[in-house]
Parts: sequence; structure tokens; C-alpha cells
Amino acid sequence: MFKGKTAIVTGSAKGIGYGIALLLAKGGANVVMGDFDAVTNENAAKEIEKQTKAKCFAVACDVSKKSDVNDLIRSAIDKFGSLDILVNNAGIYPFKPFMDLTEEDWDKVIDINLKSVFLCSQAAAKAMKDGSKIVSISSIAAFVGFEGLTHYCATKGGINGFTRALALELAPRKINVNAVAPGSIDTPGSSGVSDEQVKAMNQAIPWKRMGTGEDIANAVAYLVSSGADYVTGQVIVVDGGWTLR
Ligand SMILES: NC(=O)c1ccc[n+]([C@@H]2O[C@H](COP(=O)([O-])OP(=O)(O)OC[C@H]3O[C@@H](n4cnc5c(N)ncnc54)[C@H](O)[C@@H]3O)[C@@H](O)[C@H]2O)c1
Repeated sequence: MFKGKTAIVTGSAKGIGYGIALLLAKGGANVVMGDFDAVTNENAAKEIEKQTKAKCFAVACDVSKKSDVNDLIRSAIDKFGSLDILVNNAGIYPFKPFMDLTEEDWDKVIDINLKSVFLCSQAAAKAMKDGSKIVSISSIAAFVGFEGLTHYCATKGGINGFTRALALELAPRKINVNAVAPGSIDTPGSSGVSDEQVKAMNQAIPWKRMGTGEDIANAVAYLVSSGADYVTGQVIVVDGGWTLR
């Protein structure tokens, strides 16, 4: 499905990003994996290569830093000769009540979750051929409020607005720009939740279970495939029906 294509996935060392990198590699893409956590990311790339025989290349980077982002994009071109797919997945969600939030807390979440999407998308769009694909991982937190996540909700709402505006700007080049908004997904990042909280959450989800990295990867794989060539500026919610009520 993605044979001969090169994809960059950020935040690929674990969780949803790992699931996306694995599925794209299964589809035959060369995958450049960008993550802060160099050791876990190297191991993840080796594991995916073993499972899929696709070519994976791990790059240690902080997606909120312009020089790291430029190196990440350049390494895809140097290693594989082109860049066809960008998946902006890296993100953090540190819970903190609004009244306790410091300016540093706010800036960190904005930089890692939102500024990174600007930096990566702009650097990628400069390197990409016409007809390439950009997908960002948003959240249902863009549509419903979560206590303790004002900064996070702001970044995910920001990604949705950014996605629509960039889709318009890149339409003349037929570069599709879309987002996926996951509900509650079982990942290392969300593992701080107690069994009680998981039970309560599952009750609220019509599908009666948390999502998996693969659930999100399947939506991303659709959006970066030729089957979605006429889909742009959209945010696809993948949440087992949670936000329907
Ligand atoms: N898990 C959920 O329930 C859920 C729900 C909605 C949206 N999301 C979104 O999905 C994305 C992935 O979430 P997850 O649950 O898999 O998280 P996770 O914590 O399990 O994994 C995130 C990965 O991103 C990397 N990362 C963090 N900061 C980085 C930086 N500055 N530069 C490069 N890499 C960095 C981490 O090292 C880690 O490997 C995030 O954008 C998150 O907001 C998650």
C-alpha cells in the first residue's frame, strides 16, 4: 500500500506513534521515527524492522525545537530520497488544575503539542512533492472539556483550526492535511489512570473499552492512502462513540 513511500512519525517510541509507525511499515513504507527518548526509539525501530522487513530509521529529536525538526526532515530525504507522509503525533498531557498552572507549564505543552505541528508541517511541506500527506493527532479534548487539561485542550483545538487553514493553503499542491482525534487510548502515556478510573471511563464509552494504538493507526493509514486523495481539512474522531452523548 505504501511501497516506495517515506513517512515520518513523531513520538514514535511508544504508544499511538509506535502503532502508526508499525502499520505504515507493514504497508511497505520506509519509516523515519522521531522521538525525544533516543534509546526506546532505537529499540522500537529495530523491533518494527524485525516484524515487517521495512526500513526504519530512528532520529533523536525534540519536536518543539526548530533545529531538531529541520534535522529530522533532512534525515528522511538523505536516507530515503523523498518525504511523502508526515504524521505529527508527539504530545504530552500533564494534568494540573488551571489555578496551579505556571507560565512554564503552559509554554511547555503549547510548544510540544502545537508549535511542533507548525514546525514539522512547514519543514515537511518545503521538502515534500505535490500530492503528499500530512496528518496530525488531535484529541476529543478539542471538542469536550477535561478538568486539569486547559493547556492541553487549547493545543488540540489549535491543531484542528491549523489543519483546516493549512489544508486550504496546500490545496493548490494537492497536499492533503487532516487530523485524527482519538478518545481514550490505552498507551504508556495514559497508564497513570487507576483501575477504578478505567472502569468508569469504559462505562462512558459506547464501545465499552479503551481504544488501542492500532485503532488510531488504522484511521491514519486511511488518511495517508490514495483512498483519501479527495479528503482534506478534516478531523476524524476515533473514540468508540464516547463524544456522541
Ligand atoms: N492516549 C490517549 O488516550 C490519547 C487520547 C487523545 C489524543 N492522544 C494524543 O496522541 C499522541 C500520542 O499519545 P500517547 O498516549 O501515545 O503518548 P505516550 O506518552 O504513550 O507517547 C508519546 C511519545 O511522544 C514522545 N515525545 C514526547 N515529547 C516529545 C518531544 N518534545 N519530541 C519528540 N518526542 C516527544 C515520547 O517520548 C513518547 O515516546 C499525543 O499527541 C496525545 O495528545 C492520546
